[in-house]
Amino acid sequence: MILLDGKKTSEAIQQEIAAEVAQIKENGGKVPHLAAILVGNDGGSVTYVTNKVLACEKVGFGSTLIRYEDDVTEEELLNKIQELNESEEVDGFIVQLPLPKHIDSQKVLEAIDPKKDVDGFHPVNVGRMVAGLSTFLPATPAGILQLLERYEIPTDGKNCVVIGRSNIVGSPMSILMAKAAYPGNATVTLCHRNTINLPHFTQQADIIISAVGRPGLITADMVKEGAVVIDVGTTRVSDATRKAGYRLRGDVDFDSVAPKCSYITPVPGGVGPLTIAMLLKNTLKAAKREVYA
Ligand code: GUN
Repeated sequence: MILLDGKKTSEAIQQEIAAEVAQIKENGGKVPHLAAILVGNDGGSVTYVTNKVLACEKVGFGSTLIRYEDDVTEEELLNKIQELNESEEVDGFIVQLPLPKHIDSQKVLEAIDPKKDVDGFHPVNVGRMVAGLSTFLPATPAGILQLLERYEIPTDGKNCVVIGRSNIVGSPMSILMAKAAYPGNATVTLCHRNTINLPHFTQQADIIISAVGRPGLITADMVKEGAVVIDVGTTRVSDATRKAGYRLRGDVDFDSVAPKCSYITPVPGGVGPLTIAMLLKNTLKAAKREVYA
């Protein structure tokens, strides 16, 4: 069993980005700048966005964090997005999800200029991904592709079961793994909460990608010997022995599943760190005007 070390892979990618930023600075080019909009004080979202901004500093990007209270109006958000769309300084920006219920998230995402949509959530960029055009790939699926590629894991013709159909992970992941490319070329099954007999599908899988957010969903009996298991779950469960009072748990019952796997991601330290690295990569692409020439 080989552990897919997301932290190490993420650091390698961030070093590559930092080297490129140093080169840009040396040539007097535009230093990439990422802005992030964060609404409210949800613990997970605050942590993610803080880590994204810190990662910017590490690779030499400029960054801006824009925070609002939970009661921000949709209009205020849309005005800020307009301002960021027009900013000469900001190359790319994200609006951290989820947003409070009184705000129409889809409307907010559609207000973002697709050229600055480094999350890849705008319908134009989603469409470009499906059509195989140059685009900003959503960071978590792109990070999983990087892990598969950098560990040289074969995907051609394999049975790949993706669990969870969110716009952020499961749905784009299923599309990317089915593409005529490496990593990709897999036979993809997209399972979700209405799937009847989930184990029937996972037991046939050479590659399982679980993005559900239900700790312990994937147990050893559901996994074929030698399978590749990618765990996207990051659920906070209370743990009095930890200083923070909680720890992160994935969808996979790691201790029982790991011995059966050829490769498996840990939680934490698996997919999570890659998400940040790929957001930075997208921001670099935006600054270099690589997607929309
Ligand atoms: N919420 C969970 N994952 C993400 C992400 O990748 N981007 C944004 N903007 N919000 C998220």
